[in-house]
Amino acid sequence: MAVVGFIGTGNMGGALARAAAKSGLAEELLLANRSPEKARRLAEELAGRAVSNQEAAERSDLLFLGVKPQMLEDMLEGIRDALSARKERQILVSMIAGKELDVLKRLLGEDLPIIRIMPNIPVAVGAGVTLFCCSEAVRTEEKEFFRRLMSASGMLAELPEHQLDAASGVTGCGPAFAAMFVEALADGAVACGLPRKEALAFSAQMLLGSARMLLESGVHPGVLKDRVCSPAGSTIQGVRKLEERAFRSAVTDAVIATWEKEF
Ligand SMILES: NC(=O)c1ccc[n+]([C@@H]2O[C@H](COP(=O)([O-])OP(=O)(O)OC[C@H]3O[C@@H](n4cnc5c(N)ncnc54)[C@H](OP(=O)(O)O)[C@@H]3O)[C@@H](O)[C@H]2O)c1
Repeated sequence: MAVVGFIGTGNMGGALARAAAKSGLAEELLLANRSPEKARRLAEELAGRAVSNQEAAERSDLLFLGVKPQMLEDMLEGIRDALSARKERQILVSMIAGKELDVLKRLLGEDLPIIRIMPNIPVAVGAGVTLFCCSEAVRTEEKEFFRRLMSASGMLAELPEHQLDAASGVTGCGPAFAAMFVEALADGAVACGLPRKEALAFSAQMLLGSARMLLESGVHPGVLKDRVCSPAGSTIQGVRKLEERAFRSAVTDAVIATWEKEF
C-alpha cells in the first residue's frame, strides 16, 4: 500500500487515477489539478482527496505527473521545495510525451527514481497499452508495485527507452488508425445497404474480437487471415482488393511516418 498522488487530472491523468483506484493498492489517492473543480469531481468519484500540488508532492510515495509538456517546468517550479523537503523515498511517474529520462532527471534530480510511461487512450476503458522505462534508481519491487497498481489499465510493457518511439507509433497513434479502419469498414457496409449504427457497431466489435483472438491464441495474423479465406470465397476477393490498393504498405508507412516525426 502506498500514498498515490496525481498532479494534472485531465484525460490521461484521470484515466490512470481510475485504474489506480481499482487496484485497491492506494492507501490514499491524492488528486491535484490547476482548475480544482476537476480534481474535486474525480476525488468524489474515486473516494480520493482533492489537494494542492504542494500537498500531493509532499505526501505521495508515488507521484504521477500528468500536465501537458509545455506546462511541466512551471508546474515543477511550484513543487520544487515540497519535493526536496520530503525525507521518505518517493517515485515519480511521468506520462509527459516526449520528455525523456535524461530530461526528467535534469529537471527533477539525477538520483531520483523515475518511471517514464507512455499510455494510450484505451486505458480509459481498461484495455490500453502502457509502455514504460525506468531510471537506474527504481528498484525491482517498486516496478512490481507500479505494475500491480496499473493493472486495471490494460497491458503494461517495460521497454528500453530507445524503443519507446517505435512502439508508440503503434500503441499511441494506432487508435486513430484503428478508428479510421472501423469507419471505412462501416462505410463499405452502408454502401451495401446496412444502417450506419449497426455498421459501426459490427465493425468495432469485429476488430475487438479479431484482436482478442490474436492475443489469446498467439497465432500469426497471416494464419488467422488464411483461416477466414475459403477457396473461391468472398473474403479472398476482399484481400485481393486490399493488396491491389497497397493496404498493408500504407499502414506500415503510417507507423514509420509517426516515428520519423519524433526526430
Ligand atoms: N491523452 C493521451 O492520449 C496521452 C497519451 C500519452 C501521454 N499523454 C500525456 O499526458 C499528459 C496529459 O495529457 P492529457 O491528454 O490528459 O491533457 P489534459 O486533458 O489537458 O490534462 C492536463 C491537465 O493538467 C492540468 N494542469 C495544467 N497545469 C497544471 C498545473 N500547473 N498544476 C496542476 N495541474 C495542471 C490541466 O488542468 P486544467 O483543467 O486547468 O486545464 C489538465 O487537467 C500530457 O503530458 C501528454 O503528453 C497523453
